[in-house]
Amino acid sequence: MDQKIKTLNDKLALAKLGGGQARIDKQHEKKKLTARERVMYLLDEGSFEEIGALVTHRTKDFGMADQQYYGDGVVTGYGTVNGKLIYVFAQDFTVFGGSLSETHAEKICKIMDMAINVGAPLVGLNDSGGARIQEGVRSLGGYADIFYKNVQASGVIPQISAIMGPCAGGAVYSPAMTDFTMMVQDTSYMFVTGPNVVKTVTNEAVTSEELGGASVHASKSGVAHITATNDVECLEDIKKLLSYLPQSHKEKAASIPFELKEEIRPNLNSIVPENPNKPYDMHEVITGIIDEDSFYEIHKNYAENIIVGFARLGGRSIGIVANQPMFLAGVLDVDSSKKAARFVRFCDCFNIPLLVLEDVPGFLPGTDQEWNGIIVNGAKLLYAFSEATVPRVTVITRKAYGGAYDVMNSKHIGADMNFAWPNAEIAVMGAKGAAEIIFKKEISNAEDKEAKLKEKEAEYAKLFANPYSAAERGFIDDVILPQNTRRKLIKAFKMLENKAVSKPDRKHGNIPL
Ligand code: COA
Repeated sequence: MDQKIKTLNDKLALAKLGGGQARIDKQHEKKKLTARERVMYLLDEGSFEEIGALVTHRTKDFGMADQQYYGDGVVTGYGTVNGKLIYVFAQDFTVFGGSLSETHAEKICKIMDMAINVGAPLVGLNDSGGARIQEGVRSLGGYADIFYKNVQASGVIPQISAIMGPCAGGAVYSPAMTDFTMMVQDTSYMFVTGPNVVKTVTNEAVTSEELGGASVHASKSGVAHITATNDVECLEDIKKLLSYLPQSHKEKAASIPFELKEEIRPNLNSIVPENPNKPYDMHEVITGIIDEDSFYEIHKNYAENIIVGFARLGGRSIGIVANQPMFLAGVLDVDSSKKAARFVRFCDCFNIPLLVLEDVPGFLPGTDQEWNGIIVNGAKLLYAFSEATVPRVTVITRKAYGGAYDVMNSKHIGADMNFAWPNAEIAVMGAKGAAEIIFKKEISNAEDKEAKLKEKEAEYAKLFANPYSAAERGFIDDVILPQNTRRKLIKAFKMLENKAVSKPDRKHGNIPL
């Protein structure tokens, strides 16, 4: 028996060593943690249970029979984060560069199946040279098996991907199909084709960082939802994100105990400037409403004219979608519509109530927007809100103009409670633009055109630059003082807690993609 125990221990010790100490040192030199160190940091102490530590690949070609490493380049298993079960895989760059073999894929698929069947989040820590070149199509099949399971898991369990090293070629499509992609600055990159291929095909000279580094994907493409400065920060971000989420679509996110007191926030009264054309930072409104320090922003540097993120309100997890007057006056455009639509759909999948803070002057005009499909992209957000059955509450803090009024979680598309601040302007467009169109003749015939425009502008503003026309029709449920917003929202979301909506019988809708 002693010999048998020794055999087991030797094998497990080898598994723990991955590709060997020299390669571990190399990983550390690059300021990267190893796969095991990442898993240990992510999970609660002592909670990790490994699955498949002794798996090896089956390839014989290219002398691979002699190159066997237990675990085959990926550490898989389960454990807890803040006491809640998660499944995790971490690719081990020290073993064949973390490349994906048939067996490596099988290990990932095995825990994906468990995560789906049990109903717990899946976290993938990616650090890989891509398809295991020695395995050819078997490796590609492995990727496709993972992609397929990503889709089966979509909307069933939260799926989070962290890119903590290379992620290139087909490998990018698994993270792309998960709910959130995090990237580590300077040590990770993602692209479908690398700099060499780009140079050959398009003659562009770019570095890996310029082509697919964390900051590029966080600001230009929107592929990365969160970026971190190092591995530890990235793992902390994952833990934080998980704290807002339920385990699966069958559950609600856990609430923190909360007792309703006065909840008056007078500083909300002075955030919106008197001058309707002056910007202000919607983050201040968010901070004024939510539980202290509870905002977790997603896509912070991408399409900054809209803010999305998770927060707690009265101890409950909520998703916030808010126009940002500081950028492009808070207009809706192609990127902001896509960003918000994806977020709304995530929240709806996982029973996270939605709060919309609205200050929108309309859609961004121009050929760039039209030719890039603002019609179909704006429709994504309209569709996403319209199909969402979670509790949905809107607060109009200032402008709600034109079609954008409809899109931003209006009463007409299924919002449950719609509030407006007294300075809200709910109209087809701004008073000046409206006066120029409907009083065009009168203004051009007037002796003092400027004065006539001003007069007509004031006439229009009196009628529509307020929340009362909408409130009279019931499109707004209540006009509230900014200082009372937090209290009103806590009560509204509590009231909506047990909202249940049955959907029409169909296979699935056809969101304009
Ligand atoms: N298949 C098999 N082995 C791979 C691999 C792959 N796709 N990618 C890397 N490796 C191995 C390397 O042979 C090397 O093995 P060694 O430790 O025995 O020397 C080890 O992983 C580390 O790779 P290395 O190239 O030394 O690391 P690096 O940090 O300098 O470069 C990459 C990393 C990912 C840029 C580079 O390895 C690469 O270009 N890999 C191929 C990417 C690719 O084309 N993948 C297939 C298409 S998806």
